[in-house]
Amino acid sequence: MASSLAYTLCIVLCICSLQTAVTAKKLEISFYTHEIRGGPNGTLLAAAGTGAGNFSALGWGSFLTIDNIITEGPNFTTTVLGKFTGFAVMTTKGGLLDGGILVLDQFRFGPASKYNGSSISVTGNLANPPPGPWEVIVLGGTGYFRGYTGYAFSEPYLPTTLAPRFVYKWTFYLKK
Ligand SMILES: *[C@@H]1O[C@H](CO)[C@@H](O)[C@H](O)[C@H]1NC(C)=O
Ligand SMILES: *[C@@H]1O[C@H](CO)[C@@H](O)[C@H](O)[C@H]1NC(C)=O
Ligand SMILES: *[C@@H]1O[C@H](CO)[C@@H](O)[C@H](O)[C@H]1NC(C)=O
Ligand SMILES: *[C@@H]1O[C@H](CO)[C@@H](O)[C@H](O)[C@H]1NC(C)=O
Repeated sequence: MASSLAYTLCIVLCICSLQTAVTAKKLEISFYTHEIRGGPNGTLLAAAGTGAGNFSALGWGSFLTIDNIITEGPNFTTTVLGKFTGFAVMTTKGGLLDGGILVLDQFRFGPASKYNGSSISVTGNLANPPPGPWEVIVLGGTGYFRGYTGYAFSEPYLPTTLAPRFVYKWTFYLKK
């Protein structure tokens, strides 16, 4: 009895793990985001805390919000796929050089994207000095990205960066 139960259990577990292996999906995608630091069309705001309203005075305790666009290619004239929004908090006295900008952000895709209506949420500590790359955790997603988790890298994309517009290339490594 006990051994037949063990046998049944083993069959069930084996079939389940086989199914997991068969249905595991991987997705590698990349996008560009554009951050405009200051000016009338600014998309990065030093919203509160240390250095509120003054980028030159940012430091431990600064709270920033972003409302950046996502584009298909590195040039802002390419198709706008959606918005990259959220916040960053400087959680260490030394900022980037000291391992502490905590971010919680969402990539939300719009009508021009094949992922229209879907989103990906990321978090992490930006802990490398510029130019990165910075690695963040992909917490999950909605719509098309439901059930996916993983990690992503962000790095400055210099050929199309022209201050005050800062371009970043994001690459996502997802699976479910
Ligand atoms: C801000 O955006 C508006 C509308 O797109 C544009 O006409 C204007 O030239 C922009 N201003 C700057 C300083 O980029
Ligand atoms: C912004 O911060 C810098 C550095 O602390 C300071 O020198 C400057 O006066 C500040 N600007 C304003 C408008 O407060
Ligand atoms: C995009 O998704 C929204 C709902 O999230 C829908 O109303 C709209 O029709 C979609 N647009 C396209 C072009 O698929
Ligand atoms: C973006 O593309 C346009 C043409 O589509 C080009 O004139 C412009 O120089 C490009 N900008 C950058 C920063 O590469």
